[in-house]
Amino acid sequence: MKSTSYENILVAHDNGITTITINRPSKLNALNIATIKELHEAFKEGEADAKTKVIIVTGSGEKAFVAGADISEFADFSVSQGEHLAAQGQAMLFDFVAHLSTPVIAAVNGFALGGGLELAMAAHFRIASDNAKMGLPEVSLGVIPGYGGTQRLPQLVGKGRAMELIMTAGMIDAHQALEFGLVNYVTPQEDLLPLAEKLAGKIMRNSSVAIAAAIEAINAGYEDGENGFEAEISAFGKCFGTADFQEGTQAFLEKRKPNFPGK
Ligand code: COA
Repeated sequence: MKSTSYENILVAHDNGITTITINRPSKLNALNIATIKELHEAFKEGEADAKTKVIIVTGSGEKAFVAGADISEFADFSVSQGEHLAAQGQAMLFDFVAHLSTPVIAAVNGFALGGGLELAMAAHFRIASDNAKMGLPEVSLGVIPGYGGTQRLPQLVGKGRAMELIMTAGMIDAHQALEFGLVNYVTPQEDLLPLAEKLAGKIMRNSSVAIAAAIEAINAGYEDGENGFEAEISAFGKCFGTADFQEGTQAFLEKRKPNFPGK
């Protein structure tokens, strides 16, 4: 696949997995606009690449996944610039990632604060290393989460916990995040990427077309004006017209492993 070179991120492809690493360790991988644009391009390339079955997003270094949106970039913004920043970021990265049909796993390797936790929450699911710390500290800066955090955090952990975390601007550690259901697993740091790759391997055995349909149906339940049950019925029906469905059911009946064509 085409491999664009980037300034703020690293992209690696291996065995059906594209790993995107946010790489500004001196700024704890804070998301400036240039990094958001590069992430958009990298996720778009991963989605378009037929060989990429799973995307893993992580941060470089041992300290941070992403310590938030880059505060130095928006400190003097006006009301309309602030609104534009949130709208542009949501469209380019956070909603974009949430709606990808390629599964995205966030491997949270350290601080995931503000926009960092929002990016992890936009991924389809999250795992964390045991040194990770998560929070939405925006109100301590006089602003609120603007990259989907006020919506996705309550969806993942419940309204009361989200209210408390956002109002107190507090941080929770990886074990509390696990207890809250914010992350699915906690591992020592050196085991984090191997675990993400193991989970990716399990995903890759299945039909990518059916997985894309499942992501769409699950997301539909969280979208305004959409009925998740109806979206599920329609997506379920469409699966019956796919080559993957033919292969999956035939393989079961023939007592062999499926070899999904991915269409
Ligand atoms: N935006 C811009 N720069 C950031 C940043 C952010 N969100 N988070 C960290 N950095 C920068 C720091 O300014 C510092 O840069 P410098 O060395 O040029 O001064 C560098 O990253 C290292 O951070 P530092 O604060 O020195 O590390 P620490 O270990 O003392 O503290 C944190 C770590 C995560 C607790 C602290 O960096 C922090 O509170 N960051 C902001 C978190 C936040 O509010 N995020 C939400 C933004 S909306």
